[in-house]
Amino acid sequence: MIGVAREGLPVTIAGLGCRVPDRVVTNDELSQYVDTSDEWIRERTGIRERRIAAPEEALSDLALPAARKALERAGIEGADIDLIIVATVTPDMAFPSTAAILADRLGAVDAAAYDLSAGCTGFMYALAQGYGMLAAGLAKRALVVGGDVLSRILDWTDRSTLVLFGDGAGAVVLETADSGGFLGFELGADGSGGENLWLPGSGSRIFEDPDRHVKMNGREVFKFATRVLVQSAEDLLERCGVAVADVDVYVPHQANLRIIDHATRKLGIPSERVVINVDRYGNTSSGSIPLALADAEADGRLRAGSLVLMTGMGAGLTWGSALIRWTKETAV
Ligand SMILES: CC(C)(COP(=O)(O)OP(=O)(O)OC[C@H]1O[C@@H](n2cnc3c(N)ncnc32)[C@H](O)[C@@H]1OP(=O)(O)O)[C@@H](O)C(=O)NCCC(=O)NCCS
Repeated sequence: MIGVAREGLPVTIAGLGCRVPDRVVTNDELSQYVDTSDEWIRERTGIRERRIAAPEEALSDLALPAARKALERAGIEGADIDLIIVATVTPDMAFPSTAAILADRLGAVDAAAYDLSAGCTGFMYALAQGYGMLAAGLAKRALVVGGDVLSRILDWTDRSTLVLFGDGAGAVVLETADSGGFLGFELGADGSGGENLWLPGSGSRIFEDPDRHVKMNGREVFKFATRVLVQSAEDLLERCGVAVADVDVYVPHQANLRIIDHATRKLGIPSERVVINVDRYGNTSSGSIPLALADAEADGRLRAGSLVLMTGMGAGLTWGSALIRWTKETAV
């Protein structure tokens, strides 16, 4: 799916917030659980450390402070929100949705609220849905959350997945604007590659193997990721009539520094325009892009008028890009 945002009302990001757990887990600490090393992890992935949720911390405990911050930044209250979408593969529980839990905690009594599952691409899908609802006039203000507590579904004896992921959440408030905001979206899915990154036994399909942890074919996912990060971004830029040289801030999914470097080189984006935090957080799945946006905001890189390109990819296999003309001056 690809589309240019020219039909409906302009929609922009009016506020941004994020939260990661307090506990820092270094590569050295992981080498106590599995046969790995700081050197291997840094060389192959660029990751130095990640945040891991405390046993009592669920997704909504990270999403709630992130959402509160985003609301505060947008200068609105929970009651002003009429749509909440939480992109995640690790909700507090299958139901009620984490979005409904958040709606209750935030006092968003008039909000429609649901969770969305698109792997690490979830935040991009959720942004597109929020955009669509606002552009069509169905909702006035949306809270879009991306976050995961992947540490709960990792096999802590499997070095091929354990070292890659971390926990975290980010949230944005979407509002209509006079001009600027989202220029377009490109989203896709290829279910034929689904078994390269999956969680068998987590739903209604019965598997003989009761081991319910993330399973991944790292090499295949690597090939997929390097391809779609480039293709999705190029297709969207072309459809929007925007040259890659005009992109001020590039926010790729933070899965692996080698994947990001490859995409950045192929796209021809100067490295100083790329936002990177995979070194500090690892791959936080749906939290990755909003956490990186929050970093770019804190660095003063998100200026009114900046052109921001985001691309995610992940389980499904799925991918998605969004292009936005930032409308709000960064509060440093
Ligand atoms: C997982 C990944 C880092 C592996 O890197 P790689 O360079 O492809 O490494 P390989 O899979 O070829 O493995 C090389 C060797 O390192 C070993 N290895 C794997 N994980 C290891 C670890 N954590 N520590 C030490 N050695 C490890 C392998 O067993 C293999 O050993 P062998 O040659 O004796 O068989 C890489 O494939 C990757 O990033 N894939 C994408 C994953 C991803 O982003 N998933 C989420 C998408 S949203």
